[in-house]
Amino acid sequence: MFQHVIVKTPCKAMINGITDHPELGMPDYEKALIQHTAYVETLKKCGVDVTVLPPDEEYPDSCFVEDPAIVTKYCAIITNPGAPSRKGETTAIEAALQAFYPSDKIFHISAPGTLEGGDVMMCGDTFYVGESARTNAEGIHQLTEILKPFGCKVEAVPLSEVLHLKTGVSYLEENNMLTAGEFCTKPNFESYHKLQIPQDEAYGANSIWVNGTVIVPAGYPAVQAAVEAQGYKVLVCDTSEFRKIDGGLSCLSLRF
Ligand code: GLY
Repeated sequence: MFQHVIVKTPCKAMINGITDHPELGMPDYEKALIQHTAYVETLKKCGVDVTVLPPDEEYPDSCFVEDPAIVTKYCAIITNPGAPSRKGETTAIEAALQAFYPSDKIFHISAPGTLEGGDVMMCGDTFYVGESARTNAEGIHQLTEILKPFGCKVEAVPLSEVLHLKTGVSYLEENNMLTAGEFCTKPNFESYHKLQIPQDEAYGANSIWVNGTVIVPAGYPAVQAAVEAQGYKVLVCDTSEFRKIDGGLSCLSLRF
């Protein structure tokens, strides 16, 4: 169960966030703010307290708080984002996490290691980590060594189609995994019960489990139906403006 969530209000500069999908157009900042507020309200309905950090105009992608840190029930890890424009996001996130973790339980990924939290999927005490354009083998090695003393295992997952691991796969607890594209057939996930998403709704694979409820992005009816058919309560959030800069439900929050 999660008790705490950290989010960060989008800054005006978010319209210049990194994107692989310029064809979707620039985000509408005012609309993004409204969607972000609704996201916070939806999280609160799942029984968590939500800390809202102030916007930071220096970092266009800084509303995606999942990338500069990994939060577990054992410790927090401040990452070294692979995107140069995102490296400085770690300072504010570390300061926020100091309210929740003692200093000897806050660890760091350092150069030449790179790692972004969007590449890390926690399934109990196993952490699957996408080896991506943002997360390298050295970053995964450092994470493995940090988590080993806590009895946690790290498994690398090579990526070929998507930005971050959780762009295409989400763990819904109870051995259930929502998968799209390359993740429907990855040997790493052989033992999980997969809810496979049609390719035209692949963006919906980035859904989040929060205390028994699954939050699904608006506009993905097949994803919503598959999750509901599995017996989960579903809440829907519109993330259209964040999608334009390669963001989604998971990267907008740290949940722990
Ligand atoms: N725009 C989100 C990212 O590229 O990290």
